Amino acid sequence: MSLGAKALTFSEATSSQAFAERFSASPDSNLPQLIAAAVTHVHDLIKQFRPTQDEWRKVIAFLTEVGHASDERRQEWVLLSDLIGASALVEEINTRRPKSATPNTIRGPFFRNDAPERASGSSISLDGIGEPLAVSVRVEDLDGLPIPGAEVVTWQANAEGFYENQQPDLQPEHNLRGLFRTDAQGRFDYRSVVPSGYGVPDDGPVGRLLAEAGYPLRRPAHLHFVIRAKGFETITTHIYDANDPHLSEDALFGVRPELVTCFEPADVAGKRGKAVSLTFVMMRAKPGRAV
Ligand SMILES: [Fe+2]
Repeated sequence: MSLGAKALTFSEATSSQAFAERFSASPDSNLPQLIAAAVTHVHDLIKQFRPTQDEWRKVIAFLTEVGHASDERRQEWVLLSDLIGASALVEEINTRRPKSATPNTIRGPFFRNDAPERASGSSISLDGIGEPLAVSVRVEDLDGLPIPGAEVVTWQANAEGFYENQQPDLQPEHNLRGLFRTDAQGRFDYRSVVPSGYGVPDDGPVGRLLAEAGYPLRRPAHLHFVIRAKGFETITTHIYDANDPHLSEDALFGVRPELVTCFEPADVAGKRGKAVSLTFVMMRAKPGRAV
């Protein structure tokens, strides 16, 4: 079979170019171009480190395991992207904002896109286990004006550091998840429990990789948020508890100083707990950019 007169002979010297030629007639999708760029680096890596066939098979076996560990409840690929800092980097280069706007950080592997809508004032803790937490939220623009009707999705780990989709047999479905909408003043509030920091799951290939590298698998305690409002850039972010002693060791590069705040001792519905007041500042979407 002929590969055509223009096809390069594949060799160490021509490998990247030979591959790029196959992707040069790519359709509109930019995925082939991204893959082609990545392949160039993979070829360079192979030429630099010169792995044996067995060593390369181990790389393939690891990636295969990452795929097998992923399903509708668990996203091991996202965890890998987070762990190598790729997710944090993509967020940073795509969401450069004025200092006063809330920055993005990683979405993480435990997001679900079907959080149930809840009324302001309700609790997202369906089992009531843990130290009570009262959260009040305001969403505003860069001028400090409230943004009514913003959609705010929140999710978090429980007091033991587990998300409900990690413990489908132990926690109620959608425990510690909710979707709220801001009122005319850009506000809503809800009750929850104080989240615990947690370890990156070590029962899969990504956690084992980090453990083998000797880095702590820790994530400091946090709340997750995605905030959407028409005409504004979507915010995907965390809020971290300033009292967590492991803020500087986040395994997934998600901590930014602007996102650290104090969870203050407070009376929550007659019980000793904590309270936190959060203001998210959205910036208008740039023309032509998805929001
Ligand atoms: Fe998290």
